[in-house]
Amino acid sequence: MRRAVYPGSFDPVTYGHIDIIERSANLVDELIVAVLINRSKTPLFSAEERVKMLAEVTADIPNVRIKSFSGLSADFVRECDARFIVRGLRAITDFEYELQMAQTNRVLDHEIDTIFLTTSLEYAYISSTTVKEVAYFGGDISRFVPDLVAERMLEKLGRK
Ligand code: PNS
Repeated sequence: MRRAVYPGSFDPVTYGHIDIIERSANLVDELIVAVLINRSKTPLFSAEERVKMLAEVTADIPNVRIKSFSGLSADFVRECDARFIVRGLRAITDFEYELQMAQTNRVLDHEIDTIFLTTSLEYAYISSTTVKEVAYFGGDISRFVPDLVAERMLEKLGRK
């Protein structure tokens, strides 16, 4: 079975992430979307909340599973019995960091390959960070995230 892991913070999941999930799920038998439980950053949503939103927005893609993990992505990929990491590239500014991660992961486990998909142009400017900023200042985030995510952001920010 060809299995890939798409690790990330997903705080929250955006249309850009969903684009990468849909397209990479077409390339493999099973895609595991892996939510990082990051103890050094303080996320807006807990790992459980992020997993739940991802599960809801990908419910119609049969070969996608959502999990959370802590520690190294490379270790988690091995635990999942996978060999591929999926990452999206939005712009050249993503490249340096992504290249460094891909190379580090390959040194940590020489059997792991990273597959990069270029984010579709209509979503290439979206980031979870800017979505949070727009929501925080009361802007319209409906073009960046699905309705259920937008609603949960408003609840989180005490606007509902
Ligand atoms: O959505 P993000 O925040 O860009 O995702 C970054 C992520 C989760 C892929 C990266 O921070 C990660 O893999 N963290 C786990 C620790 C690790 O394995 N780091 C890579 C080796 S330097």
